Amino acid sequence: EEQKLERVRQQVRSFPDFPSPGINFRDITPLLKDPSAFCTAMDLMEAHVRKCFPRVDVIAGLDSRGFLFGPVLAQRLGIGFVLIRKKGKLPGPTESVSYSLEYGKAELEIQTDAVDAGQKVLIIDDLLATGGTLWAACQLMKKKGAEILECLVLIELTSLRGTEKLKSVPIYSLLQYD
Ligand code: PRP
Ligand code: HPA
Repeated sequence: EEQKLERVRQQVRSFPDFPSPGINFRDITPLLKDPSAFCTAMDLMEAHVRKCFPRVDVIAGLDSRGFLFGPVLAQRLGIGFVLIRKKGKLPGPTESVSYSLEYGKAELEIQTDAVDAGQKVLIIDDLLATGGTLWAACQLMKKKGAEILECLVLIELTSLRGTEKLKSVPIYSLLQYD
């Protein structure tokens, strides 16, 4: 288990001062390029979900890097995947929630028929920073009456205290960085 996590961690690199000064950007592209390490990351996520949740109805992934992991996990679990997108990208009836970023505001959207009330949903993204994005995703799911089992991320930036913002929702991360 620890060795598997270490293999995954080795394929995450850091870029200081991207996209702006003071930000140490955690870059997952080496992991995606290494099929064996990527598979190990998915094995760990799958094992965690199977151990903790006997029934999951749907995986909801966040635009855009949640789309890299969510569908893979959903296929492994034999369940469906739905998209939570930035505003204006999804056709048909949608519901949206606005949320605050470090600077300004943004909006996330879901198609009205993406999930049904009472469904057990796992929300997935690549990374938890301030928690604003996952918070908005949770609001969307609550609006739909879905039951949020957990938010699952590859990486948690612990010093930004995103878990505090998401207080009532359990968070699981494979890797943690300060
Ligand atoms: C990044 C990351 C998360 C979010 C985390 O996405 O992939 O979705 O920020 O930040 P938060 O916890 O402070 O909300 P970004 O908004 O850069 O969009 P992208 O995936 O389209 O690059
Ligand atoms: N890496 C990747 N995405 C991010 C980061 C980061 O450090 N912070 C917020 N989104």
